[in-house]
Amino acid sequence: MTSAKGSKMQIPTPDVSLSTALELPAVFVRGARKSFGDREVLRGIDFQINRGEVVSLIGPSGAGKTTLLRCLTLLDTFDAGQFAYGSTQVTREADDGRATYDKDSVRRARMQFGIVFQNYNLFPHYTVLKNVCDAPIVVQGRDPDRVEKEARELLERLGMAEHADKVPNQLSGGQQQRVAIARALAMKPKVLYFDEATSALDPKLTADMHDLIRELAGDGMAIGIVTHEMGFARDVSDRVAFLFDGKIVEEGTPEEVINNPTDERTRAFLSKAED
Ligand SMILES: Nc1ncnc2c1ncn2[C@@H]1O[C@H](COP(=O)(O)OP(=O)(O)OP(=O)(O)O)[C@@H](O)[C@H]1O
Ligand SMILES: [Mg+2]
Repeated sequence: MTSAKGSKMQIPTPDVSLSTALELPAVFVRGARKSFGDREVLRGIDFQINRGEVVSLIGPSGAGKTTLLRCLTLLDTFDAGQFAYGSTQVTREADDGRATYDKDSVRRARMQFGIVFQNYNLFPHYTVLKNVCDAPIVVQGRDPDRVEKEARELLERLGMAEHADKVPNQLSGGQQQRVAIARALAMKPKVLYFDEATSALDPKLTADMHDLIRELAGDGMAIGIVTHEMGFARDVSDRVAFLFDGKIVEEGTPEEVINNPTDERTRAFLSKAED
């Protein structure tokens, strides 16, 4: 609004940022494409995860699940498409239709997600505590004492407090995974991704993982899971997306997609997955 003299008036605007932020998807992609050489591996992906929602991505080997996850976590780039974390637009469309990445947006987007890798990717020479504290201190520049206090609370919550001073190779696979989760959570992410989170876990640890994921979602976190375990995807997810040859060909509740798939390709995949 301008005054009679044309200068801008300072009018207090209502703070709508919070309510807007609550409604925007935690992560959002539209028309995402990615090729390796001549081969188009992601062929127009529309995908989002809302606040407090658990979404599993399933599909056959080579469908593009890891590629999508790598692009979502900025380890790789989409060639084309819209891509945002909350109100942070990560890509812009250039005149030729290609996605361009803005450095500052990428930096802000990186603060909004964490990932638990299949092989955990812990630093072998760091203690458990240092593995958890490192990124919040080094990447986020947060106060080391405060980060350590929170890290100890996270390790306590995950039943790992007594292992704080060990190095990863002194831990079991399930324990290492909990360190990887603590490390991701220490960044206070809005979105948490799991890549094959439950393979190689025994039934008790898988059940613990299910409870933890539901608890985090209950706190408002958006959770994305890539998994080959249909039972786990069915039990833990609010929504399941079936990726086939670079496209999401079926999406819905676990009941719809896993128990009553309508697409022929989903059916074929699930009948094999049961073997
Ligand atoms: N860096 C790369 N260079 C060339 N091709 C690649 C690269 N990464 C992946 N691909 C190809 O992209 C396709 C999708 O691979 P991707 O790893 O995303 O599949 P996936 O769904 O994760 O499979 P899986 O269930 O076996 O893990 C495959 O054909 C793969 O060979
Ligand atoms: Mg993969």
